Amino acid sequence: MLEVHNLSISFGGLKAVEDVSLHLQQGAIASLIGPNGAGKSTLFALASGFLKPERGTVRFLGEDITGLPPHVICRRGMVRTFQIVQPFAAQTVHENVAVGAHLHHRSRRKALARAEAVARRVGLADQLNKLASSLTISGRKRLELARALAAEPRLLLLDEVLAGLNPQEIGEMIPVIRSIRDSGITVLMIEHVMQAVMSLSEYTWVLNHGSLIAEGTPAEVSNNAQVIEAYLGRGTAERLRRNSVHA
Ligand SMILES: Nc1ncnc2c1ncn2[C@@H]1O[C@H](COP(=O)(O)OP(=O)(O)O)[C@@H](O)[C@H]1O
Ligand SMILES: [Mg+2]
Repeated sequence: MLEVHNLSISFGGLKAVEDVSLHLQQGAIASLIGPNGAGKSTLFALASGFLKPERGTVRFLGEDITGLPPHVICRRGMVRTFQIVQPFAAQTVHENVAVGAHLHHRSRRKALARAEAVARRVGLADQLNKLASSLTISGRKRLELARALAAEPRLLLLDEVLAGLNPQEIGEMIPVIRSIRDSGITVLMIEHVMQAVMSLSEYTWVLNHGSLIAEGTPAEVSNNAQVIEAYLGRGTAERLRRNSVHA
């Protein structure tokens, strides 16, 4: 579905994404994890056309889409959410979701009908007429998800849609994400909430300082010494090993 090959970009002297290659299978829920500043959002921006890579290629549904503008890639079916959610605050939830639906529906009536159906799927049906600015964080995250879904993606890139939610809200959101995949949409999520990564994703890539340091099932990568180091700092993997030997 998505094949990223040797993708690289730097900002000034900083190698934000360096020679990253990954193959995402159609129908999967997969995740991209790594510490803050690892290059995860930058990789999404490169894949979805918001940034142009200095090197490397992006193939989507068998075609080279490297360097195409975001609206073209979006129309082909790769849709991303943004880490910082910025709805049109002065518009209603319904109108905000309809913006996404207008990608494929020129008619206002059809876009609004499509928006209503999508809002229902993410649990926003009873908030359609509220102003976006009045939503809670959880509501805004659902709105961001609904706007992306309304664009009828084949591949959905989710950038930290669970960030800022409390454990109960996370628990409510996990089945929503799973149902999106079950409806036939491939999902690649950037996520810090390991509970969600472990329960939702079938495959995980780990970025650190712009480079991939591990990939595999969530269970495999969470046992990987380099991954533990990247998250918890120098010496941690060794200490954990010593402790488990002496436990
Ligand atoms: N547009 C930009 N200009 C300059 N530096 C950037 C830009 N976008 C990201 N960076 C830097 O690139 C690195 C990776 O950022 P980012 O992809 O947002 O990390 P992550 O999403 O993994 O937390 C960070 O050091 C960040 O400060
Ligand atoms: Mg990010």
